[in-house]
Amino acid sequence: MISVELGKTGEKIPILGQGTWGIKKSHNKEEIIQIKATLERGIEIGMTHIDTAEAYGGGRSEEIVGEVIAANRRDDLFITSKLFPKHVGVDSMKKACYKSLERLGIDCLDLYLVHWPSFVVPKIEKHMRVMEELLKEGKTRYIGVSNYSVKQFKEAQGYLKNAELVTNQLGCNIKRQKHINESLPYYQKEGVTFTAYSPLGHRGFTNLKGDLREKLEKIANANSATIQQIAIAWLINHDNVITIPKTFNLDHLHSNSEAADIKLSEEEMKLLQSI
Ligand SMILES: NC(=O)c1ccc[n+]([C@@H]2O[C@H](COP(=O)([O-])OP(=O)(O)OC[C@H]3O[C@@H](n4cnc5c(N)ncnc54)[C@H](OP(=O)(O)O)[C@@H]3O)[C@@H](O)[C@H]2O)c1
Repeated sequence: MISVELGKTGEKIPILGQGTWGIKKSHNKEEIIQIKATLERGIEIGMTHIDTAEAYGGGRSEEIVGEVIAANRRDDLFITSKLFPKHVGVDSMKKACYKSLERLGIDCLDLYLVHWPSFVVPKIEKHMRVMEELLKEGKTRYIGVSNYSVKQFKEAQGYLKNAELVTNQLGCNIKRQKHINESLPYYQKEGVTFTAYSPLGHRGFTNLKGDLREKLEKIANANSATIQQIAIAWLINHDNVITIPKTFNLDHLHSNSEAADIKLSEEEMKLLQSI
């Protein structure tokens, strides 16, 4: 699996990781076996970055990821989790991180993100104070944010005394190109990794219609690929972009992983950019 530098850390992260949104408390045994088998296989083929959050399935996603971590060498994995902005006080925010660590069964995250900018309280400043304290306490190796505008990102970075935000995780895909067009140039210039979530539009792009489908199919045929592979390839053919498709289906996993090797021409990128 191709890897790229995470922010300006000097550390490499796989260009394709694995999302875990959709894991819920109500899964039966067979479903859990399937989810874990897919995550395990993903790890074997180099998709060692696993993305989770305290909010996913009320903590169930972190628990299942924890079981996968326990069956692997911790150092081979890159684990991201996220603080949900429902906690108001510094102590309760820190406690949320400790609980994530407990569910994951690890002492330290690789990356901890603020999941969303604060809706009302607490303010960005307080979130950044907490994130910096968690770094100092050794609860996470790196910190970042998610769903922040460039303005909010700059504000957040400004509050940090001795730390840098290494990523902004943003919803971005072939149908939702706003962030690629409007904010990617900023993150490229600043050396901040742009992590694209929902690379397959959250539902797998199985019901695409019209012009978008036609363009994707044309490029997919020319590359002996599927439209999903082209959608993923389009994202990671941009400098400084990594992505975290979610699948609990082994065929989809293998197919998605192959998208990392698709090099789109300038002409193909332009055609897709204009969708
Ligand atoms: N920071 C945030 O606010 C935020 C928000 C949303 C998501 N995320 C993260 O980003 C990850 C990915 O985003 P996402 O889960 O929203 O959606 P996504 O990865 O865009 O799409 C996932 C859907 O696509 C299907 N799929 C995957 N590969 C496929 C293929 N090759 N062919 C057909 N269908 C395919 C999956 O079903 P199968 O399982 O059946 O393959 C699933 O239903 C999440 O899991 C989560 O970790 C972060």
